[in-house]
Amino acid sequence: MSFVKFENVSLAYSNSEQLAIKDINFSINENEFVALVGPSGCGKSTFMKLTSGLLSPSEGYVFVNKREVVGPQKCVGMAFQASNLLPWRTTLQNVMLPMEIVEPYRSTRRKKGHEYEEQARALLKRVGLEGYEDKFPWELSGGISSVPRFVAR
Ligand SMILES: Nc1ncnc2c1ncn2[C@@H]1O[C@H](COP(=O)(O)OP(=O)(O)O)[C@@H](O)[C@H]1O
Ligand SMILES: [Mg+2]
Repeated sequence: MSFVKFENVSLAYSNSEQLAIKDINFSINENEFVALVGPSGCGKSTFMKLTSGLLSPSEGYVFVNKREVVGPQKCVGMAFQASNLLPWRTTLQNVMLPMEIVEPYRSTRRKKGHEYEEQARALLKRVGLEGYEDKFPWELSGGISSVPRFVAR
């Protein structure tokens, strides 16, 4: 089976009677690099939300790595179109946010918090943000502030 597979997938957002995407059949193999291109509103983000398990299909089935997607997927990263950095948290604290929410990090935070922080600092360094750990999102340029959002995934 393909790494990502959509079988007859349709989705209607709960506040809408119209289908945002209709009867999609699509597959992506492991190591395949795919770009979805299309006009605004054609369903690209909806596709990503279904693949990452943030949304469940109204009809049909979504599979990732041979398993049906029934909830948020840890193996799928998603860089959102709109910035979702929390303005009251520093760069480092924004990068660390998933560690406070997602298991197994959340429950092991007391023991391993230091290790997780080291990892976050290493990631920031890797994208050229060493020295910006204690800055707030509004102190970074728009271009820079989009980077930790990507890293945070
Ligand atoms: N939260 C939402 N509630 C209702 N309709 C939505 C929502 N998000 C997207 N849509 C609708 O779903 C369709 C696909 O949107 P989207 O996946 O965001 O498109 P794209 O990412 O390709 O620009 C559009 O018609 C859009 O208006
Ligand atoms: Mg979009």
